[in-house]
Amino acid sequence: MKNRQPIGILGATGMVGQRFIQLLENHPWFEVAWLAASDRSSGKTYGDAAKWRLDTPLPDRIARMTVQPAEPFGAPKVIFAALDAAIAREMEPAFANAGCAVVSNSSAYRMAANVPLVIPEINAEHLHLIEEQPSRADSGGYMVTNPNCSTIGLVMALKPIEERFGIEQIFVTTMQAVSGAGYPGVPSMDILGNVVPYIGSEEEKMEAETLKLLGRLDGHAVTPLAAKISASCNRVAVEDGHTESVSIKLGNKLGRKVTHEDLLAAWAEFRPLTGQGLPTAPDQPVQWTPQNDRPQPRLDRNRGNGMAVTVGRLRPCPVLDWKFTVLSHNTIRGAAGAAILNAELLASLDKFGREAPPDKSGALQRKRTIEVVDDIVAGVFGGGTRGLGVI
Ligand SMILES: NC(=O)c1ccc[n+]([C@@H]2O[C@H](COP(=O)([O-])OP(=O)(O)OC[C@H]3O[C@@H](n4cnc5c(N)ncnc54)[C@H](OP(=O)(O)O)[C@@H]3O)[C@@H](O)[C@H]2O)c1
Repeated sequence: MKNRQPIGILGATGMVGQRFIQLLENHPWFEVAWLAASDRSSGKTYGDAAKWRLDTPLPDRIARMTVQPAEPFGAPKVIFAALDAAIAREMEPAFANAGCAVVSNSSAYRMAANVPLVIPEINAEHLHLIEEQPSRADSGGYMVTNPNCSTIGLVMALKPIEERFGIEQIFVTTMQAVSGAGYPGVPSMDILGNVVPYIGSEEEKMEAETLKLLGRLDGHAVTPLAAKISASCNRVAVEDGHTESVSIKLGNKLGRKVTHEDLLAAWAEFRPLTGQGLPTAPDQPVQWTPQNDRPQPRLDRNRGNGMAVTVGRLRPCPVLDWKFTVLSHNTIRGAAGAAILNAELLASLDKFGREAPPDKSGALQRKRTIEVVDDIVAGVFGGGTRGLGVI
């Protein structure tokens, strides 16, 4: 316990905040040391303030902790943020300016040019963008974001394909769980026996975030992937787990027709974090299921402790090239687990303050990021990115 990094949770009483608490219990690197939420909760014990909704017991130590005001003073240096976007827009920069590393779930800054939107398996090198944030040079603080819960599953399935074959067009329809709307979320009278074909701003987020995540870091900014994408998002009466029907038109990187076996091999061999020792990283991040009626939320959402994405039903698409189904756990891989994995990556890069203070140009940090990311990439491809112009 003594040597673990103390962390704080902003929005600790909400759906995602509760997942943080659940996933961080017994975490080998991080220890929950500070909890904050709205004025409604501040000053109460966590046990009184939060309506615990998860199927594991609320840890006693956490239940006894007092919920603090959501202010940087007295907060630990590493903050997991699970706030509504409107609140995050004001609060997250305040914590970053005060010197905190803010590892955020909210959409408020995902598309900001100098804020990394990161999935460690996909685009760890984008973390360099923290050196472009003014707070980094001033106080050492910065913001890092993870994508929207429906974007993560999609991008995990697309990345191995994009890397090997290229992707020109993406067509995706989601069936999203009610927990994605927070608690109490969608009224039961609206969702039971029903499908709601609208989730505010979700389609725009999926489209923009997917292209940024699959984009290339060019110097000081990310150039989004030049593909066309169309998303349609639906809320369905499922508790946890977002399902997505995906069709894609491939590029021509391979120089020949891409087969069913090529695509399965791309998913099976996609293990970019192997050997990096990040505790929350699943061994097999994209898992193939051969059964015709899978993946299903109830049966497949907890693969890899909720951190693996399941793909199935791969078949030719008569309109584009190929179509398949993706499933991911929206509050684990799609939210708290994603942020924890980002924090593990940051810790492994010494971005939590154990390195020399940032110089104005960020050159020192950029060099270190490139070296460690190079090692991650080398673990997958047997070579590095050095000299290849990847970073
Ligand atoms: N649920 C998902 O699957 C999911 C997935 C990916 C991303 N996200 C994103 O994660 C964020 C949190 O989502 P959620 O589902 O956990 O929402 P939620 O259940 O509604 O929880 C919101 C949290 O924010 C706190 N809060 C509200 N107003 C505040 C204020 N003025 N100051 C400080 N804290 C305040 C609440 O505290 P009180 O209890 O005191 O009101 C609560 O802890 C959102 O941006 C959401 O879009 C959610």
